[in-house]
Amino acid sequence: MEFHVNLDGPGDLATRIYRSLRDGVRDGRLRPGDRMPPTRELARTLNVSRGTVATAYERLTAEGFLVGRVGAGTFVAATAVGASSSPPAAGALRPRAGWDRAPSSPSALPAARYDFQVGVPDVRLFPYDTWRRLVAAEWRPRRGAGRDREPAGYADPAGHPGLRAAVARYVGYARSVRAGAEDVVVTNGAQQALDLLARVLLAPGDVVAVEEPGYPPAREVFAAHGAPVVGVPVDGDGLVVSRLPRAARLVYVTPSHQFPLGVAMSLHRRLELLAWADAHDAAVVEDDYDSEYRFADRPLEPLHTLDDGGRVVYVGTFSKTLLPGLRLGFVVVPPSLREAVRAARRVADVHGPVATEAALARFMDEGLLARHIRRTAKVYAQRRSAVLAGLAGELAPYLETVPSAAGLHVCALLRPGADGGAGGAATAQAVAGRARAAGVAVETLAGYQTEPGGPAGLVLGYGAIEAADVPAGLAALAAAFRTVTPR
Ligand SMILES: Cc1ncc(COP(=O)(O)O)c(C=O)c1O
Repeated sequence: MEFHVNLDGPGDLATRIYRSLRDGVRDGRLRPGDRMPPTRELARTLNVSRGTVATAYERLTAEGFLVGRVGAGTFVAATAVGASSSPPAAGALRPRAGWDRAPSSPSALPAARYDFQVGVPDVRLFPYDTWRRLVAAEWRPRRGAGRDREPAGYADPAGHPGLRAAVARYVGYARSVRAGAEDVVVTNGAQQALDLLARVLLAPGDVVAVEEPGYPPAREVFAAHGAPVVGVPVDGDGLVVSRLPRAARLVYVTPSHQFPLGVAMSLHRRLELLAWADAHDAAVVEDDYDSEYRFADRPLEPLHTLDDGGRVVYVGTFSKTLLPGLRLGFVVVPPSLREAVRAARRVADVHGPVATEAALARFMDEGLLARHIRRTAKVYAQRRSAVLAGLAGELAPYLETVPSAAGLHVCALLRPGADGGAGGAATAQAVAGRARAAGVAVETLAGYQTEPGGPAGLVLGYGAIEAADVPAGLAALAAAFRTVTPR
């Protein structure tokens, strides 16, 4: 790529070339060691004489910005870095309201010695060699193969046909979700599925109901589409349906493993929610983000399976079972939404990476996903047992575990007596801060609440921490409690 030489401004042509290149070196657009184009070539590009460029180069060399190496060419000098780079002007443009603050991040904690970060799997468990083999195979040229088998060109916005079929089989087998390949749209993670649904379901001003506490990125994506987002409380049976705002057009829920409390929505509530949606002509978005990891109880039927009115849209992700960095998720849509969601995907980003999607299809078809989930579930089960043991032991005077049967995190509420006097949320915050200083990363429940006054507690992820490290991490957490709430 060519460096853009600006010939504007005062002075003769050689001076203008000199000034433009000097500024490029100073502000770092030209970096030490970069090779400069030969004078003849630059002269041709700029439509000036070679001598003019040579004059500019000589001056830059004399001032130490460039060095000539015999037989090799002219380079930006190693010492000529950012002599007077002034920060670029802030600019006159401003984002519209709502975009002028940083979004939350599901994994905002910096790494710690004992990492109870929420929402992440253990990336060390991923079968990298197998994955590399599958992706590499997709990039081998295939003579005579159909267009949709080729990773190089434009493809179907709904996703690789093989992957859509594999996902339909997978959710049918593992979650009793009845779907054909034609009902599946592959997405860039669950987050894009929510974005697409907001695009096709929400008219300006339509109210969206989300769980409180809940998953901040869901709230954010609906708010980004301009929807008034209303938090609805969650109790031991899941979302409290009787508290739904009558005007809600879309209800976002995590029924298998409420994020972040961990409770499963009871069957009674599931049926109540479906009846509510029918009566209020609303859509229900069921985010089944981590139910592959189930450690007790038989799973309840997904809302999607219980629904016979075509009101439930089922969202899944490979961020927990495989890697968040793959950015692969999917949405199972009712026939009435198929074309709209597919069109929304095309408008949003045309389609996903074909080779990656094809590799995942093979991974699933060869039974490797099922094997990987079985293998990782054993690892997470050990970590989970270690966390539950710590919560039932040294931490029991301070925290009460919220019962849950699935997923990669547990939530524990502050016991009334463990309030250090400053209020539950402040105590939890203080404990998390103390723990952090001792090398333990834990999240507070407050990070998932938008209203003050909800229950106070901590959320402990076990995706990133080895089972052997859990006891020491929780012992340090208990020590933090003892300091903040002396008894
Ligand atoms: C409730 C919930 N939904 C979805 C996801 C995954 O999102 P994505 O597929 O966009 O990575 C997470 C990850 O933390 C989550 O907690």
